[in-house]
Amino acid sequence: MYRSEVTTEESERTAFRKAEKKYKIYYDNTKKKKVTRPVDLSEVIDFKSILDDYNCNIELNDGVSVLNRDFDRPIFCLESRPGIPGALSIEEQRQWIRESLASFPQPPNRTNHNAIYGPIEDLFVSAKERRVLVEVERLPDDVCSEVNALQSDVCAPWYKFVEEHGELRSKDACKSVSASVLLRKLRWSTLGLQFDWSKRSYNISLPHKKIPDALCQLAKRMAAPAMPRGEEFLPEAAIVNYFGSGDMLGGHLDDMEKDWSKPIVSMSLGCKAIFLLGGKSREDTPIAMFLRSGDAVLMAGEARECFHGVPRIFTDAENADISHLETQFTQEDGHAYLDYIRTSRININIRQVF
Ligand code: SIN
Repeated sequence: MYRSEVTTEESERTAFRKAEKKYKIYYDNTKKKKVTRPVDLSEVIDFKSILDDYNCNIELNDGVSVLNRDFDRPIFCLESRPGIPGALSIEEQRQWIRESLASFPQPPNRTNHNAIYGPIEDLFVSAKERRVLVEVERLPDDVCSEVNALQSDVCAPWYKFVEEHGELRSKDACKSVSASVLLRKLRWSTLGLQFDWSKRSYNISLPHKKIPDALCQLAKRMAAPAMPRGEEFLPEAAIVNYFGSGDMLGGHLDDMEKDWSKPIVSMSLGCKAIFLLGGKSREDTPIAMFLRSGDAVLMAGEARECFHGVPRIFTDAENADISHLETQFTQEDGHAYLDYIRTSRININIRQVF
């Protein structure tokens, strides 16, 4: 599974799991507060300093090479696994943070909240305006049975956002949840062809919209250096992952797409993270690297078949590395984006499915 790996004693002992445990966040409880336990980060590869060295004509570390193909800045390969530090400009980062929060979770795109609440509209704006989600009705059973075959969660109770002190009657209060809590609990949304997590497959019969054109163009540009010669990348689906403090993404393979000669374009926004890139088996020791806002990883070539995951994000001001975003959200609604991204990370990974 993707989000919640089944753990057995054996899987707890693999080299990948050991690395996850090494880098994940641990808290020590001192008398009054939770303190993050220090972690040895000396072995984490930092492509930002590799890029700085490269720009100053300093020799690259062993195992790092530069792929100079069809892109406007250096693409570094780590033992033939390509990635582009600083691939997105600051303006692009701002744009995709906004879209990831305000547009991507909008129906018919699905999110992790669908299973409980059905499709919910305007999550981000509702969080900003301190609305609460209340149960309003349940679809009649006969309608449910008709649509169940198509979309299992459509018959969840129906919910809508209301003003906190407005329509909320005392009977609703026990069935209400604030939009800001739901925003913090947003874990994923899916664009384009929708992914059915319970079956671990794309369900092409689920209602969906095409991936926005601007995102397709960006993904095509980034995928180009890692595409088989003469072929064009066709973005058909994207998974947007949202990470809050303490969240991690367990080691997994992306194996649901038909043609693994096509890369997955994976972009990072917001707080810095540690990304683990292993081998074809969980027994292979993964390489740890920092990913910062604007970096792109191309899961291509050998890496396309490798285990990977995110054991840690850094949400403290000193390590999050997002000071460049502070000036980017100045309009009236900008604070809501900034508040979110100061303690969060977003990953958009774009795939060709067929
Ligand atoms: C993923 O592998 O699905 C996401 C990786 C990331 O968050 O960088």
